[in-house]
Amino acid sequence: MGPIEFNKKRIILLIAGVLAFYILYHGLSIPGAGIDDADSQLPIPEHLTPTEHKLPPSAPDPDKIWDMPPEPSPTLEPEHAVVPSETAPPPAPAQPAEHFDLHPIAKLMQDADVQWRAYESGISMTFRQTVEKYRNKYGRHPPPGFAEWYKFARKRDVFNIDDFEQVMDDLRPFWAINASEIRIRAAHMWENFDFGISVIHIRDHKVVKVENPSWRSETMEKVLDKFIKHLPDMDIPMNRLDQPRVVVPWEDMQDHLRVEYETRVMRPEVMDSFTKDRPELRDMSILDKAEDHSTRLNDEWFFAPGQQYMKIAAKGCPPESPARSNMSIVQADALYKEPTVGLVTNFNLSSDLCTVGPAIQDLHGMLYSASSIIASHKLVPLFGECKVNVNNDILFPANMYYQHDDRYDYNDKEDLDWRDKQENIIWRGVTSGGVQLTDNWDRMHRQRLVRLLNGTYMGTAAQEVKVLTEQDAGPDKVNTTYVPFERFQPSKFIAEHSDVGFTEPMSCLPNCSFYKDHFTWVQPVSLTAQFKSKYLIDVDGHSFSGRWHAFLQSKSLGFKATIFREWHDSRLLAWRHFVPVDNRYDDLYALLTYFTGYGKPYKQHDAEPEDLNPRVFIAPHDIEAQKIARQGREWANQVLRREDIEVYMFRLLLEYGRIIDDNRDYIGYSGDGSELDKFDAGEKDDGRWGIGGWK
Ligand SMILES: *[C@@H]1O[C@H](CO)[C@@H](O)[C@H](O)[C@H]1NC(C)=O
Ligand SMILES: *[C@@H]1O[C@H](CO)[C@@H](O)[C@H](O)[C@H]1NC(C)=O
Ligand SMILES: *[C@@H]1O[C@H](CO)[C@@H](O)[C@H](O)[C@H]1NC(C)=O
Ligand SMILES: *[C@@H]1O[C@H](CO)[C@@H](O)[C@H](O)[C@H]1NC(C)=O
Ligand SMILES: *[C@@H]1O[C@H](CO)[C@@H](O)[C@H](O)[C@H]1NC(C)=O
Ligand SMILES: *[C@@H]1O[C@H](CO)[C@@H](O)[C@H](O)[C@H]1NC(C)=O
Repeated sequence: MGPIEFNKKRIILLIAGVLAFYILYHGLSIPGAGIDDADSQLPIPEHLTPTEHKLPPSAPDPDKIWDMPPEPSPTLEPEHAVVPSETAPPPAPAQPAEHFDLHPIAKLMQDADVQWRAYESGISMTFRQTVEKYRNKYGRHPPPGFAEWYKFARKRDVFNIDDFEQVMDDLRPFWAINASEIRIRAAHMWENFDFGISVIHIRDHKVVKVENPSWRSETMEKVLDKFIKHLPDMDIPMNRLDQPRVVVPWEDMQDHLRVEYETRVMRPEVMDSFTKDRPELRDMSILDKAEDHSTRLNDEWFFAPGQQYMKIAAKGCPPESPARSNMSIVQADALYKEPTVGLVTNFNLSSDLCTVGPAIQDLHGMLYSASSIIASHKLVPLFGECKVNVNNDILFPANMYYQHDDRYDYNDKEDLDWRDKQENIIWRGVTSGGVQLTDNWDRMHRQRLVRLLNGTYMGTAAQEVKVLTEQDAGPDKVNTTYVPFERFQPSKFIAEHSDVGFTEPMSCLPNCSFYKDHFTWVQPVSLTAQFKSKYLIDVDGHSFSGRWHAFLQSKSLGFKATIFREWHDSRLLAWRHFVPVDNRYDDLYALLTYFTGYGKPYKQHDAEPEDLNPRVFIAPHDIEAQKIARQGREWANQVLRREDIEVYMFRLLLEYGRIIDDNRDYIGYSGDGSELDKFDAGEKDDGRWGIGGWK
């Protein structure tokens, strides 16, 4: 290579360097970062070095993805958004933003960004770090097979090797139950079909039998197949009902957790294998259960369909929580809603029945009119797809998220770029949620939503709702501030901005004819066609909603109200990846008007004589909406993939395999992690896990 070429190369490198610098610094102030440069107000530097970030090399710096619009910049820019000129040359320092949008959502988005950075910093990059972190956090060695799991996870490009909090939380109390008791229960739970439980039996690394199979267990078998060679013999009881099952009273749970804590040990050297001998697992050679005379334990199931679920659930709550004390609803709300219009500040608490139970016990189908509740107050091992916060079911990723089904699968066929989407909120579904009677349907969660977003109903019923309106601070205003407006008449606004309706009725007694004066059954809209709308709202049915992953993966913005917990909860951050909605929906109009905007600036009021709410003005926050939608989509593609489900299940079943092992305190991985140094290093040379001969 001649000197000229060499010089050319250097010049190119130099230009590339300058460009990179430019993008790094300037990328910050592009409109995607929006919210009046809210990001740059944070004490935490936006661009940490890779080592500070401690991101796995495979994970591109997420902030850069978030802030780099994959689509052309939106044409719509709120007039108040002060966007530093994008064409200015790099040396010109960005003008310090002097104009702030002081809407509570701007603050909530900033806080979520801070939380998110805390989440993604300090993630283990090597097996050594992963093992060390495990021991520090849980006070035990990792389970046998951990190294195999680690490799499995890395090959699938797992984003956060440390975040399996849900697995650990779900299994923790079982350390207080001896292993043989768990095995005895798991072996026989299927025997009474009426209790609604399937059991998958694994022997010699194969699924040898599934009792009371269903589509759920079939999907589970497909997942198991990926790593079953690493699992010990086990019986896996699975919930066949939509509703969750186990509620251990809070006081008992405290005892279990104390025992777990007190029995933590880390012996210097333990066996990195499971115990072969597992008496009390079901004897698979006995075909007729009548001839199986092995021990049974009473799981103490009781049937409680259609009853107030809070009667059962409150037992699982701390005595000082709203569910068990006489704390008022206003006081309880203050724990998780901001004061102006009740935007959700803590999504975890907003779905915590100990906190919100008293407020919503008559406003959610499962809580007062469930079609099936078979519950127990004993800590029994039962795997389920969703639960409410007081349940002790062991969560696993819902099968809809794994199998390929057009009703739940994201497909980009009809997804549009943000600016091409309709400025409206869409929802379709059936009237599920609970058993509906002529005098109780109007309190159910889906029915309330469909009415609330029906302009005709809101108009004829003269319903008023709360929103935030810009404060008219005169010509000298510096910041944009907002005040609550309690008497917003939404009928005209929502008629233009919603496409919401039931496609058909179900679960009514004696029949659904009482709906004829209240709802019009509308045409179904396929999941993918819904992505033509900017805003998607997801609410519960009989249980959790299987659409949620697809909503997050789409380019639309997901709104979410739920009482259910799922496997992915610790990975999803409200206000960064989606918009949280209170289960009463009293924040919904404040949310919608914030994103779509409403009215004209005060000076121009007279121009709109038809305006039902001439005193309300809020500029559109389209950029913010697009930003959260984009962040949710990118994130879902990193942590809610089918591969993530496989990794989660593998980890869950290794932990479960140990908990049901009589030698559980003597088995595990006690090494320092060094045997995977090469694995970690080999992949790092390549800049990516999963490439370089390991796949
Ligand atoms: C486990 O519990 C059963 C019954 O509760 C008891 O008989 C057995 O001895 C216990 N086993 C161990 C290893 O503690
Ligand atoms: C309930 O309220 C009453 C009166 O406000 C108070 O005296 C009592 O201590 C409260 N009980 C609990 C359990 O907080
Ligand atoms: C505008 O808001 C910023 C950020 O909250 C604050 O520091 C500043 O004092 C406000 N300016 C005025 C004039 O209120
Ligand atoms: C539905 O139930 C109502 C009330 O019991 C009854 O009057 C009506 O005939 C029923 N309609 C049908 C189609 O069964
Ligand atoms: C909207 O509300 C009106 C009045 O209550 C009702 O007649 C109509 O069927 C509702 N529309 C839908 C789609 O349910
Ligand atoms: C929700 O809060 C509870 C109680 O503080 C905590 O144990 C749990 O990990 C939280 N869940 C998530 C997903 O953050």
